[in-house]
Amino acid sequence: MKIKILTSIVGLWLLASCAAGLSDSQDLQEQKIRQIISEMTLDEKIGQMQQSNDGFFGDDEATKQAIRDGKVGSFLNMVGAERIAEFQRVALEESKHGIPLLFGRDVIHGFRTIFPIPLGIASSWEPDLAQEAMRVSAVEASSMGINWTFAPMMDVTWDPRWGRIAESCGEDPLLASKFAVAMVKGFQGDLNDPTAVAACAKHFVGYGMSEAGRDYNTTYIPEPLLRNVHLRPFKAAADAGVLTFMSAFNDLNGVPTSGNEFTLKHILRDEWGYKGMVVSDWASIEEMIAHGFAADKKQAAEISVKAGVDMEMASTCYADNLKQLIKEGVISEDLVDNHVANILRVKMEMGLFDKPYDNHVSTDTILAPSHLKVSRELARKSMVLLKNNDNTLPISKNIRSLAVIGPLADAARDQLGTWIFDGNGDDSTTPKEAFGEILGNRMNYSSGLEYSRDKSTKGFAKAISAAQNSDAILIFAGEEAILSGEANARGIIDLPGIQTELITELKKTGKPLILVVMAGRPLGIGAEMDMADAVLYAWHPGTMAGPAIADLVFGDFSPSGKLPVTFVKGAGQIPFYYYRKNTGRPATENDVVYIDDIPRDSKQLSLGFKSMHIDYGITPLLPFGYGLSYTEFKYDNLKLSSKEMSTDGAITLSADIRNIGNYEAEEIVQLYIHDKVGSITRPIKELKGFEKINLKPGDVKNVSFELKAEDLQFYNGDDYIIEPGDFEVWIGPNSDEGLKGSFVLK
Ligand code: GLC
Repeated sequence: MKIKILTSIVGLWLLASCAAGLSDSQDLQEQKIRQIISEMTLDEKIGQMQQSNDGFFGDDEATKQAIRDGKVGSFLNMVGAERIAEFQRVALEESKHGIPLLFGRDVIHGFRTIFPIPLGIASSWEPDLAQEAMRVSAVEASSMGINWTFAPMMDVTWDPRWGRIAESCGEDPLLASKFAVAMVKGFQGDLNDPTAVAACAKHFVGYGMSEAGRDYNTTYIPEPLLRNVHLRPFKAAADAGVLTFMSAFNDLNGVPTSGNEFTLKHILRDEWGYKGMVVSDWASIEEMIAHGFAADKKQAAEISVKAGVDMEMASTCYADNLKQLIKEGVISEDLVDNHVANILRVKMEMGLFDKPYDNHVSTDTILAPSHLKVSRELARKSMVLLKNNDNTLPISKNIRSLAVIGPLADAARDQLGTWIFDGNGDDSTTPKEAFGEILGNRMNYSSGLEYSRDKSTKGFAKAISAAQNSDAILIFAGEEAILSGEANARGIIDLPGIQTELITELKKTGKPLILVVMAGRPLGIGAEMDMADAVLYAWHPGTMAGPAIADLVFGDFSPSGKLPVTFVKGAGQIPFYYYRKNTGRPATENDVVYIDDIPRDSKQLSLGFKSMHIDYGITPLLPFGYGLSYTEFKYDNLKLSSKEMSTDGAITLSADIRNIGNYEAEEIVQLYIHDKVGSITRPIKELKGFEKINLKPGDVKNVSFELKAEDLQFYNGDDYIIEPGDFEVWIGPNSDEGLKGSFVLK
C-alpha cells in the first residue's frame, strides 16, 4: 500500500515539475526530496529545521544520539575535523534517513590564512581577487570539515559608527553586488568538489541602517531606498546561485526581518523565485519577543515559519512549538514540508548525500605558501594612499634608519581584525617583523603605546628618541580588533586613547612622518592627516599585513586601493554618502560660512539658508572612490557613442587614461551618472561601472563602458521604471571628480 501511495506521490510530483519547467536532473532531485520527506515523521522534519551550536546536546555521545534521532539538521561552531567527520558518518550511516548535516562557521575573511576585513577587500575594487581569496578560505575550511559559511555579508552601510561596517563592502550597491557575487563564487566553487562550501547572503535585509550605528537597532528604510540600494547585492547573490540566505536581527519598518513576510516571501520567493534555504540569525526568531513582535516562543515560531525562515539558528522556538502549532491547525504540515524541502535541496545541491565525508580532512592546505601569497597581494591592494606630500613615499630600502613606532606596529592579533574564529595571531607577520627583516638594525622600533586605547605616556620618551635617531618615522596607529565588529559600535570615531598626542610629539621632531592606520572603520583622522606627510589606510589587513605594507612603503608596488565608503570629518556628519540627494537648497563651498568666521555681532537670521554644517561645511573628509598612487593619471578625451539613448538601447562611453608620472601603477577608473529629473528625487551621482587598469609610465589606455538603458532603471515607489530625461555622466578617479558629459534618454 505504502509503495502505491509513494508511486502516486512521485507521479504527481513529476506532473507538477514538468509544469514548472524543471530540468530532468532537477526533477529527479525534487522527486528524491519529496520521497524522503514522505518517509519522515513530523519530529524528524522539525529536527531538520534546527541548527544547534556545538555542545548543545551535551558531550559527543549525546550529540551522536541526537543525530541518530533526527533532532538536528545543522551545527555551527563545531571544531575538530575528525569530530565533524564522525558526526557526518553517524548522520549518513546510523540515522533513519541518512540525511547529512551542514556544518556552519563564520569564515568571513579567511579561515586560518586571514585576508583583509571585507571593507578592506572592497577597497581593492578587484572582485576576481576576492573570489580567489574566498576560494582559498573554502579550501582551508572544508579541509577541517566545514561545508557552510555564514558569508558574504552584503549589508550596505554608510555609518562608520556601526562596528559591522568592517564586514561590509561599504556604501555602494553596485560595488557591494560585484563583491557579493565574487565571494559567493569563491566559497561555493564547483559544488561537486569536496572543497565546496555553501555561501550565505546575509543579513537579509537592511541591517546596515541600524539607527545611530548602534548594533541591532531599529531600521526605517523606505521601499525605494530598500530596492534601489539594500536589496541589490542580495538579488545579485541570488542570481549567482548563493545556496543560503540569513535573515537578520533588525526591525525593518516595524517588522523584524526574521519574521518579515514582505522580504522573506514576497520579495525573496515570489519576486525572485529563490529556491535556496533561509536560516535565521543567532536566536533572531526568539528575539522577536524582545522586539515586542511576538508574545512568546510559540508565536515567534508561528510568525517566522509562516514568513519563510527554514532553519532556526541556536534558539528552539521551532523545536519546542511547531508540532503543537500543527496540532492546533495554526500551520499545516505542508508548510513544514516546504521548509524541509528547501533544506534538503541545499544538502543535495552540495552533493552531501553522496560526498565522502572524510576524504579531505587534511591540514596540508592550511597556511599554504600559495595562500599567504594571495593574502599578501589582496592586503596590498586593499590599502588606500590618502596623502603623499612631496612624494614622501615610497622610501628607499637603503634608508640610513627608519623609526617604526606605534601600538599597531607589532599587534599580531589586532592586524587580523574582527570575526576571527580560526585565524591565529601567531601566524601573522607584523610590520615590525617585516621591516626588521628588511632593515635589520637600521630599524628603530618603539611601540610608544602598549595598545590603541592606552592612556599612559610612559612610552613616549623612548618613541621620540627612536624618531630623533631616524631619517623618517612610520607610525602605526588605529584600532584594536575588538573595537570593531558585531555589537562594537563607537559613537566617537576618532583614534582611540592618546595616539593623536603621540603623533603630535613625533611631528615635533621634524622628521618625515608617515601614518599607517589599521582600523575596522573609516576614522575621523582629519587632524592626524594634517600632521602627517603621508597617510596609508591599511584597514585590518590580515595575516600578511607586515609584508604587504613593506611592499608599498618601499615602493615594490604602488598603492592602488580606493575608498568603498565616504570618510567623514566626524560622527556629526553622519550620514554622508556620495549618492545623496541634492536637496532644495544645495550649498557650494562659496556658500559656507564657517563658525569661526561669523562676526561677533552678527545680526543675521541665518548664515545663508543653504544645506550645510557651519563647522564641517559641505564636504566629507574624503570622498567615496578616493585613493592616490605613486604616479599621476591624466584623464582625457571623453567620448560618448551617442548623445541620445533609447529606453531599450545603450551607449558606449570612453576616455583615455595616461600615466604621466614615473611609477607603474594601477588605476580604478569609475563611471558615474546623474539622472537630473525623476518621478522621485534622484541621487546626485550613482556608480554604474568601474575598471582597474595597470599602466607603466607614459602608457595610455582607452577605457570604455557600455551603459544600457536598463542600468538606469530605478524603483520609484510604484514600480521599476526607466524614465526618459537628461543625464550627466562622468568618467573619473573618484566620486568627486572626472570628465563630464551628458546624454538624453528618449
Ligand atoms: C552572529 C551574526 C551572524 C553570524 C552568526 C553565527 O550573531 O550576526 O553574522 O553568522 O551570529 O555566528
